Formats: sequence, structure tokens, C-alpha cells
Amino acid sequence: MIVLLVTFLAALLCPSVHGQDSSVVWCYHVPSCNFTTWPKSAPQSCNGSSQSPINIVTASVQGNPNLTSFNFTGFNDNSTLMSIANTDDSVVVKLNSSKMTVQGGDLPGLYNSVQLKLHWGNGNSSNGSEHTVDGKQYPMELQILNVHSKYNGNLTAALAANDSTGLAVFSFFMELGAKNLTNKWDNLTSLLTLIPYSGNSTTNIMNQVTMDSLLEGVNRTKYYRYRGSLTIPNCNEAVIWTVFKDTIKVNQDVINSISTKLKFKAVDGSSEALITNNFRGVQPLNGRVVTSQPVAAAPSSATTSTISIITVLLLSRLF
Ligand SMILES: *[C@@H]1O[C@H](CO)[C@@H](O)[C@H](O)[C@H]1NC(C)=O
Ligand SMILES: *[C@@H]1O[C@H](CO)[C@@H](O)[C@H](O)[C@H]1NC(C)=O
Ligand SMILES: *[C@@H]1O[C@H](CO)[C@@H](O)[C@H](O)[C@H]1NC(C)=O
Ligand SMILES: *[C@@H]1O[C@H](CO)[C@@H](O)[C@H](O)[C@H]1NC(C)=O
Ligand SMILES: *[C@@H]1O[C@H](CO)[C@@H](O)[C@H](O)[C@H]1NC(C)=O
Ligand SMILES: *[C@@H]1O[C@H](CO)[C@@H](O)[C@H](O)[C@H]1NC(C)=O
Ligand SMILES: *[C@@H]1O[C@H](CO)[C@@H](O)[C@H](O)[C@H]1NC(C)=O
Ligand SMILES: *[C@@H]1O[C@H](CO)[C@@H](O)[C@H](O)[C@H]1NC(C)=O
Ligand SMILES: *[C@@H]1O[C@H](CO)[C@@H](O)[C@H](O)[C@H]1NC(C)=O
Ligand SMILES: *[C@@H]1O[C@H](CO)[C@@H](O)[C@H](O)[C@H]1NC(C)=O
Ligand SMILES: *[C@@H]1O[C@H](CO)[C@@H](O)[C@H](O)[C@H]1NC(C)=O
Ligand SMILES: *[C@@H]1O[C@H](CO)[C@@H](O)[C@H](O)[C@H]1NC(C)=O
Repeated sequence: MIVLLVTFLAALLCPSVHGQDSSVVWCYHVPSCNFTTWPKSAPQSCNGSSQSPINIVTASVQGNPNLTSFNFTGFNDNSTLMSIANTDDSVVVKLNSSKMTVQGGDLPGLYNSVQLKLHWGNGNSSNGSEHTVDGKQYPMELQILNVHSKYNGNLTAALAANDSTGLAVFSFFMELGAKNLTNKWDNLTSLLTLIPYSGNSTTNIMNQVTMDSLLEGVNRTKYYRYRGSLTIPNCNEAVIWTVFKDTIKVNQDVINSISTKLKFKAVDGSSEALITNNFRGVQPLNGRVVTSQPVAAAPSSATTSTISIITVLLLSRLF
């Protein structure tokens, strides 16, 4: 009886079904149905052992010289951001994956960029990034989802293949910059008023904003790398994560707007609430190692050079 009631309440209050090939009902907000219940409600694979997001402990990060720079294609082209939609759990910008690609940075091949998605907290009162660094949570997180080119930009196909390197997600923390800061995020934010309800979408974004302009100020040669999963059910362990160290700076209005303009829909369509705190909490590492660019050795010191040679030798033995 209690189980039935809980199930019924969950169905009533939860946002509708989200995600690729997902038939489970899942939510962020309901005490009986939030990310802590996903391992039970979506056991395939939210109960896995290589889940995302994680807390990055900088003191435990290991250097890897293979983590070179990326080649970005289409990131400076304002026709690649095609539409912006309220997807009930977030806001998603659809990208033209035939024009947008990434490679390099030790990724196993070329990946097509298919979408951009945001996670946030609640205005200026609580933060909502998914990843954290030494326990610090940022106001927002931008995630660019890239699909290996062998799947031709088809996310469903990549997930169906059960390929642990099928996806590469690029993650950027977003935080408050200078008080008078204006940038292309203001343009993007102004479009949110056009998509207040779940399912709303607009193509007004076309020919206005480039991905580069949204990533302004981020040095894309400095990043963390680890293997993990999607951060929504079914939590597929198919992702090579790249979490950039530099943050995107936005003004307070951008952070406030995102959590006050978008609503989600209950399954029965009866109630609406603002999408807030749409992040999954950090997951256990279970022995996974986070890597990054090696710290540059001081060239003048013989001792440092010797140590770095030993380190390289040790690393080449270890990997
Ligand atoms: C999430 O769900 C768990 C298990 O039902 C519950 O103990 C916890 O209070 C919930 N947290 C929130 C923020 O709703
Ligand atoms: C997760 O749940 C699935 C389905 O119930 C089960 O097959 C699998 O063994 C579980 N995995 C872990 C790590 O518990
Ligand atoms: C770097 O790449 C080379 C060539 O693929 C590989 O042999 C080596 O193990 C990699 N090093 C690390 C630290 O991953
Ligand atoms: C995406 O880009 C390709 C290649 O330039 C183009 O042919 C296609 O029309 C674009 N798709 C959309 C939906 O605009
Ligand atoms: C990146 O682009 C440069 C210049 O076009 C090229 O030389 C290099 O091989 C590319 N790197 C990768 C990993 O594709
Ligand atoms: C914080 O958010 C509240 C509610 O949106 C707003 O009234 C207030 O002006 C914000 N504070 C700052 C410093 O932006
Ligand atoms: C994507 O892949 C799925 C599963 O392989 C397939 O059913 C679907 O038709 C593909 N979609 C497109 C647009 O090719
Ligand atoms: C923002 O304010 C800073 C210092 O208050 C000033 O140096 C800068 O020029 C201002 N920028 C703009 C775009 O107004
Ligand atoms: C969007 O950007 C253009 C310049 O590219 C600017 O003229 C316009 O005012 C911006 N709109 C908003 C709402 O920020
Ligand atoms: C937005 O969604 C609402 C609720 O589903 C719908 O009534 C409305 O027509 C949609 N608006 C647009 C512009 O699609
Ligand atoms: C979009 O790109 C085209 C072609 O490069 C350019 O002519 C146009 O001014 C750009 N639009 C904006 C708003 O920057
Ligand atoms: C980005 O960071 C690298 C490594 O610290 C540095 O060599 C490079 O000059 C930086 N690029 C820019 C544009 O600041």
C-alpha cells in the first residue's frame, strides 16, 4: 500500500520521462524521487561503479603528457547552434553535428558535437554545478556532448553500442565575473523567455551566437580527464570526461535568469514548477584516476629536471 502510494505520488510530482532510451521516471526534486534513488529506479546503469559527476581532488590528479590541445571545428561559426529547447529537466541547444567536431587531447578519434546542456542551482542562493573541485561547487556547469564519428552524430546508436568511449563530454564551470560584464550569454539568456514551458523550442538562436563566444576566456589547453557516465538516467558508462580548469564568467543576471524562467511539467500536466537544482550529486571514484597536463618542470634546476626524468620513467613504467 505504502509502496503504491509512493509510486503514485512520485508519478504525479516527477518531471516526465527524460533521457535517451530511458523508460524510467526520474527526478531531481522530490524527496522520494531524486538522484539518490536513481540506482534503484534506474539500475541499468545508475548503480554502476564508474559514475559521474565526481569531486576532483587536485592533490590526487596525475600528470599525463598525452593530454595535448584539441582541434575544434565549427566553434567559430554562428550557424552551428540551431535551436534552444526547454527539455523539462534542463535547457538544451541543438548543434549541427555535421559542422561541429572535436579531436585531439588524447581522444580516440574524431567526435561530432551534438548538443550543449546546462546544470544550475537556484539563482544566487545555491550553486548547481555537477562536478566539484576540492569540494567546491560552482554556480553552473555547461556540458557539450560529443559523439564518436563512427556513430554519425547519432546519440541513440552510440548508447546502444555499449561503447565506453562512444561519447566525449566537455564540461565548463560557470561563475560570476565582473559586475558590469556583458557577453554572448546575455543573448542566450534573453531567449529563455521564449521557451518557458517543457517542450518549447525556438530556432531564433541561429546566426547569432558562436560556441567560441560562449567559451570566451577559457584556455582550452588546461583540463582534467577521467572516464565516467552520463549524469542522467540511464547513466550509461560511455563517457570520456574533459573538465576544463578555467571558468566561464557571466553576470548575475545570467545566473538569476536561468533558475527563474524555465518550468518543468508534472506527469499529469497539472502542476508546474521552476527547474532549479538540476544536478546529480558527486559519485564515488572507486579507484578511478583523474589526469591532467603534467606540471611544467622548472628548466633551470638540475634537481627538478632529474626528478621529472625519473617521473617520466616511472610514468612510462606505470602506464
Ligand atoms: C532524496 O531522497 C532521499 C531518499 O528518499 C531522501 O532521504 C532525501 O531527503 C532526498 N533529498 C532531497 C533533497 O529531496
Ligand atoms: C545494477 O542493477 C542491474 C539490474 O538490476 C544488475 O544487473 C547489476 O548487476 C547491478 N550492478 C551493480 C554494480 O550493482
Ligand atoms: C601516451 O600515449 C602512448 C601512445 O599511445 C601510450 O603508449 C602511453 O601509455 C600513454 N601515456 C599515458 C600516461 O597514458
Ligand atoms: C548542417 O550542416 C550541413 C553541412 O554544412 C548542412 O548541409 C545542413 O543543412 C545543416 N543542417 C541544418 C539542419 O541546418
Ligand atoms: C590539429 O590541427 C592541426 C592543424 O590543422 C594538425 O596539424 C593536427 O594534426 C591536428 N591534430 C589532431 C589531433 O587532429
Ligand atoms: C539574488 O537573487 C534575488 C532573487 O532573484 C534578487 O532579488 C537579488 O537581487 C539577487 N542578488 C544579487 C546580488 O544579484
Ligand atoms: C540512430 O540510431 C538508432 C539505433 O541504432 C536508429 O534506430 C535510428 O534510426 C538512428 N537515427 C538516425 C536519424 O539515423
Ligand atoms: C567594468 O568595470 C571595470 C572596473 O570597474 C572597468 O575597468 C571596465 O572598463 C568596465 N567594463 C565595461 C565593459 O564597462
Ligand atoms: C545580441 O547580440 C547582438 C550583437 O551580436 C546585440 O546587438 C544584441 O543587442 C544582443 N541581444 C541581447 C538581447 O543581448
Ligand atoms: C510552449 O508550451 C506550452 C505548454 O506545452 C504550449 O501551450 C505553448 O503553445 C508552447 N509555445 C510554443 C511557442 O511552442
Ligand atoms: C554570423 O556570421 C555571419 C557569417 O560569418 C556574419 O555575417 C554575421 O554578422 C554573424 N552574425 C552575428 C550576429 O554576429
Ligand atoms: C593557455 O595555457 C597554456 C598552458 O599554461 C599556455 O602555454 C598558453 O599560452 C595559454 N594560452 C592563452 C591564450 O593564454
